[in-house]
Formats: sequence, structure tokens, C-alpha cells
Amino acid sequence: MCGIVAYLGDKQAEDILIEGLKRLEYRGYDSSGVAISDGKKLQVVRSSGRISVLEKLLDDSSISGTIGIAHTRWATHGAATTRNAHPHMDHTGKIAIVHNGIVENYSTLKKWLINNGSTFSSETDSEVIANLISHFFYDQSQYDGCEVDMSLDKRLIKAVRMTLRELDGTFGVTVLCEDVPGMLIAARRGSPLALGIGDGEYIVASDAAAIVKHTTQAIYLGDNEMAVITRDGYQTSTIEDEPVASKIEQIEYSLEEIELAGFEHFMAKEIFEQPETLAACLSGRLDVKNGQINLGGIADLSRKLVRAHKVNITACGTAWHSGLVGEYIFEELCQLPTDVDYASEFRYRNPIIEEGTVHIVISQSGETIDTLAALTGARQRGALSLGIVNSVGSTIARNTDCGIYLHVGPEIGVASTKAFTGQLAVLTMMALYIARRRHMSQSRLEAYINAMAKIPEQIRTILGQSDFIKETAQQYCDRENWLFLGRGYQFPVALEGALKLKEISYIHAEGLPAAEMKHGPIALITPEMPVVFVAPRCGQYEKVVGNMEEVKARGGKIIAVATEGDDEIRKYADHVFTVPDTLDELQPMLTVVPLQLLAYHAAVIRGHDVDKPRNLAKSVTVE
Ligand code: M6R
Repeated sequence: MCGIVAYLGDKQAEDILIEGLKRLEYRGYDSSGVAISDGKKLQVVRSSGRISVLEKLLDDSSISGTIGIAHTRWATHGAATTRNAHPHMDHTGKIAIVHNGIVENYSTLKKWLINNGSTFSSETDSEVIANLISHFFYDQSQYDGCEVDMSLDKRLIKAVRMTLRELDGTFGVTVLCEDVPGMLIAARRGSPLALGIGDGEYIVASDAAAIVKHTTQAIYLGDNEMAVITRDGYQTSTIEDEPVASKIEQIEYSLEEIELAGFEHFMAKEIFEQPETLAACLSGRLDVKNGQINLGGIADLSRKLVRAHKVNITACGTAWHSGLVGEYIFEELCQLPTDVDYASEFRYRNPIIEEGTVHIVISQSGETIDTLAALTGARQRGALSLGIVNSVGSTIARNTDCGIYLHVGPEIGVASTKAFTGQLAVLTMMALYIARRRHMSQSRLEAYINAMAKIPEQIRTILGQSDFIKETAQQYCDRENWLFLGRGYQFPVALEGALKLKEISYIHAEGLPAAEMKHGPIALITPEMPVVFVAPRCGQYEKVVGNMEEVKARGGKIIAVATEGDDEIRKYADHVFTVPDTLDELQPMLTVVPLQLLAYHAAVIRGHDVDKPRNLAKSVTVE
């Protein structure tokens, strides 16, 4: 939820840290700060509000130095004030840390530290880390007699190790100490951290987006690993001090992919690049020529997948909506019983996992804490686990038995868009892969493959309606309550349309199966209420039209997403956004696009910060 950047090199750290924080701002944007060492003193500047506020403060200061740490925060413990902003210092003011994650036993540690002479100035859990390091570093009685003479750098490393062992919970943490000015320490457990290796410089960050401008070579720290970085190089080890032979990996995306490229917002860019991102997702997997699906990421375990008796899907938010579409698709195409759970519920239930269960986790970021916990629980109960993840090398991707990456490129906008269509594409390809090996005929498979190959260009035609959708948004964006209705494959799309509107427009919207309307929500319908029907010509089209008539009869305003050429629907709908025709199972990849645009335009017209919506952060790494 928060972002970390740290730098050690020969350039001024301030510029690099601020630039890195801006790239990570989508991960948290309620306060930020930097600590920079000039070789003698640690200089700290913090501020509540956006990075631009911090930048202004730094412009007015005379900070210099070539080693520093920085943080952008999404508040968990303590309000979004300057006092609670990172970096946090120990009570001597000589040790600075930035921290992502949660220290679950912080109140016990805090009491103990206070009893042992520490003082605290924030309400955060993170401050205990700085004070604990300080305690172990400055209080020599903590060391065995023979280690009293240890050099300061060795003592700092040891103090950090001792501290991290005391912490329950999760951390991505970087540490600077005024008395060891040429050393940067980074460590992680459950919260991502990468070490970018440049030419005579190192950039540590919680997300490769802050590294890629400087280098494309990085080490992704594993859980319970730490890196000690000095001007002579770096060393990686476990927190317990066992050496780790870390692999240097190529960062999988380029700087261009994380730039706005002329768009006003990342969300718009990500909506409009879906023809390309979906094509990239299908590339090499959807083999039109040979009529087959290739999924290298699951090939080794394909026998187990094909013989599975049951599929469980867990995810959160938008990824959960794609999981719901997955449920319909797996049952229809593979005839496999499928359940979908909110990861946050699954992890605390006592789920029955029978032999032959495949547990699929879906996550754009690969870092969502509830999804990760659901995955861990399912694995402990013996399920074969499979990840559908966008972020390469993320924690969820590393912890599954097998998986399929989305390959839709980094998603920066907090509202998930291109990841959703990518998730649907991967779920569909996976279902086809399994179905063909179970019972599906080659001709039926080829019909799906041919239809899927057209989806990217079909999305492009939908995007052409953006201005028209904007006019509709203009007309209704002052309404504070909306309904989104759909049946079958379109029910999860209705949920997704409502979520998009809620999170960036702050309009109350509810998504429902269209047939449920009569069981209560119909009481809400008035001429003031926009009702969005996701109603392409498929499955239960006639029934959805019946529901539209019911809304119309009560004076509701109808916006419909319908199949091109469907003139019938115009009798009921006040506004129609069209999508090209395709097979039923593939419709959601198309019908969601007008709803993404509707939410985007409504939010912009209402004057909201679309990429950084109120109270939200891109990846939810706390419960
Ligand atoms: O990174 P994940 O896919 O695991 O994230 C899950 C949800 O937090 C995410 O989809 C969230 O609902 C988005 N803001 C929706 O646009």
C-alpha cells in the first residue's frame, strides 16, 4: 500500500528519491518523506499530502547527500499527518527507517522499549523498528562480551538482524544510520522489495517502477532476506545470516510502459491500450494456425489440472469479479464444479478442500495480503495452486505451484481495467486448455480460438464510442445512486461496472443479477435513478429485456450495453453503447469496456483525481 525508494550512488539522492516516489505515488499518497545522509548528519524532511508538497519543502531546503531513503504512505496505524509520515527516527535521531507492512506485535515492543528508555513521537507501528535497531546498536550490553569491539558497520547489521527477528507481521524496510554513513540496509518479509543494480549505484524500491529509469537489472529479495549495500558492493543473506546466492533478473518492462504517453491519466491510457495489452496476453498462447492453446506456465502440471474434480477461485475486488466470470466459464466449458470466494472470507473459514482441488488465485499486483493468505491456506490443505497474476516475480506468483502471467504490462491506475480483460482472457484460455483435454471437440475449440483472436480489434471499435459515452456521463454524473444489472456472464460485469463508478466517481452504485431487482431493489427505481443494463445478445437476452421493461414502466433512466445492430433494445433504453457480437463466454471482455469509459468520464467530469482516488491504494497489503 505504501512505496519505498532508497538510493546509494554518486548522484544527489534527493532528485532520484523524489522521482522514484512520484512513480510509486499510486501505491499510497497521504504523506511522504525522505532521509538523506551527507556523510555526517541525517537530514529528514516529511510532509502530509501529495509528493508535490514534499518536493516543494525540499526545494526550499538545502539538503544534500548521495545516500538516502524515502517513502510514500497509505495510513494504517495513525492518521495521515506529518508526524506519522516516514522516515521514522529512533529517539536519538540517528537511525532512520522506512517501512511497508504491519508490525503486529508493535504495542508489546513499544511498551518494552519505553521501559528501556526509548521515546516515541508518532502513532505508527513502524517507529518501533527504528527504536529497536537503536536499542541493539547503541546498547552494547546486548552483545556477547567478545563482540563489544565489533566495528560499527557490523554492529549495525547485527542490530538490524536482531530487530527483524523480533517483529511479527510483514515488512519491507530500509535503514540508514548517521554513525554508519556509507551503508544502506534493506530487508523484506511479505512486502516486496527489489535491489536495482546500476553502474556504481543502487536503487532499492518496493516496485520496479522506481528502478527502471536507472537500471533494468534487479534482485528481487525473497522473504526473510536482507541486502547490505555499501559503496564497495552489496551482499544478500537471510535475516538469520545465511548467505543467499541472489539471481540478478531483467526488469520485465520499459520506462515507456509506466509513462502517461500523452494521456491525461493512467486509467485512460490503460483503457485505451487494451487492444494491444490483450493481444500481448494472447500472443504465443492462442495458436490460431494450429487450433490450439499453449500455456507453458501450467504445462508441467497439466495432467493434474485436467484430472481435477473441483476448482476454487479466490481473489479480491476486480480480480474477484473476473473469478466470477471464471466460475461460469469453467462450469460451462470444462464441466468442473467451481466455487469463487472473496479471499478475505476464505482465509478465515474452514474450507473443505477435497482431493483433486485446484485452487486458483487471481491478483493483478500479486501482493494482496488476503489473496496471499487464502493461497497459503489452500496449499496447506493440499490443493494444487495456480496463480493468475500480472506482476512478474510478485509474492503470489512465487508461492503458487504453477501460474499464468497476464502480460498486460504494469497497471498504474488504481482502478483496474486492462488487468480485468487480461484476467478474463487467461481464465478463458485455461478453461479451453483443460476442456479440450477432457472432452471438448477440436471444432468447438477452434470456434473459440477464432473468436478470441478477434477480441483485441473488437475492443478497439468500442473505444471509438468514448466521446458518446462521455456525453452520457455528462448527463447523469450528478446522480448519486446507480444500479448495474446483468445476467449470466454479464452479472460479474455489472458488479465491475458498479465498482469502477464507486471507486473513482464516489457515486453510490450497486451491481446485481438483473432478476434480483424484483426482490427488493426495484423499490429504488425513480426517474432520478440511472440503471445500466449489460445486455448483449446472448444467453438470457429476452429475460433481460423483460427486466428493462420493468424499469421503464417505473420511469427509470436506462443505459444499455448492447450488441451492434440490436435495434429492439432502443425501444427501452435511453442510451445504448454497442459492442460487436462474439461467443457468450467472451462477451465480458467487450461489455466491460464501455463501463470502464463511463466511470472514467464521470470521474473526470466530477473533478476527481482518477488515478489516485480518495482513501484507496493500488495494492492492498494490509488486512
Ligand atoms: O492486485 P489485486 O488484483 O490482488 O487487487 C485486488 C483489488 O484490490 C483490486 O482489484 C481493487 O478492487 C481495484 N481498485 C479495483 O479497481
